[in-house]
Amino acid sequence: MEDISPELIRAGLHTRFIGQKILYFPSLPSTMTVARKEATRGAPEGTVVIADEQTGGRGRRGRGWLSPRGGIALSIVLRPALLYLNSLIMVSSLAVVHTIENTTGLEAGIKWPNDVLIRNKKVCGILIENSLGEGVNYSITGIGINVNIRMANLPEISSIATSLSDELGKSVSRVDIISRLLNEIERLYQGLRDGESVYEKWRARLIILGKPVQVLTGGATVIGIAESVAPDGSLLLRQPSGNLAKIVAGEVSLRPL
Ligand code: BTN
Repeated sequence: MEDISPELIRAGLHTRFIGQKILYFPSLPSTMTVARKEATRGAPEGTVVIADEQTGGRGRRGRGWLSPRGGIALSIVLRPALLYLNSLIMVSSLAVVHTIENTTGLEAGIKWPNDVLIRNKKVCGILIENSLGEGVNYSITGIGINVNIRMANLPEISSIATSLSDELGKSVSRVDIISRLLNEIERLYQGLRDGESVYEKWRARLIILGKPVQVLTGGATVIGIAESVAPDGSLLLRQPSGNLAKIVAGEVSLRPL
């Protein structure tokens, strides 16, 4: 299997700050923890922590994330203004979609807020952890992509998850994907700071709009039609009562009609 080489990743970058510092580890419990430690020590914005495999990968809502060798597991240290914090979910998920499409030709979509799916199966998960003080101290974007992984070997998730190699029938260069992904994240993030909106582009890639869904939010499950999303990233859910609920964070699943 192709090794992840920070030098080769760097050779494919045309970024000003994202990936200018790359910390690579063959194996880590979680890139989130290392990235956070780096950030608190003052690591420059754009520092990237990459692991070939994670032994304690973390997912959203306290879940784990399986990260065998062959996948991509990385965390990026950003220091956005508070104004842009909500948009990081949009930047990262859209960048993953663009990168998958540009490198493989596979069509990908986003399940609100930031899961990336191919043919309705999850190929990428994103975890964003922020440290807030008077403003944003730092924000860590953690991205896990199933690249060259045989999902049949992971029966716990094989019915709901897929990988790029399973979809393509051949393996893909992780180095190439990482370089392109970092380039794309910086392009979209810089665009935000230059006043461009990623909101419309993100919304256009959401696969749930207009569909009946159920949303696990806090401890409750609410149902309705996923009518739209607001510019701050929250989900607008039309409930059976006719009420339009604004959901800031949660886990969506499609519901049969
Ligand atoms: C989810 O869908 O629940 C989010 C999964 C996020 C996984 C990535 S892999 C790189 C980074 N390190 C972790 O431990 N988690 C994130």
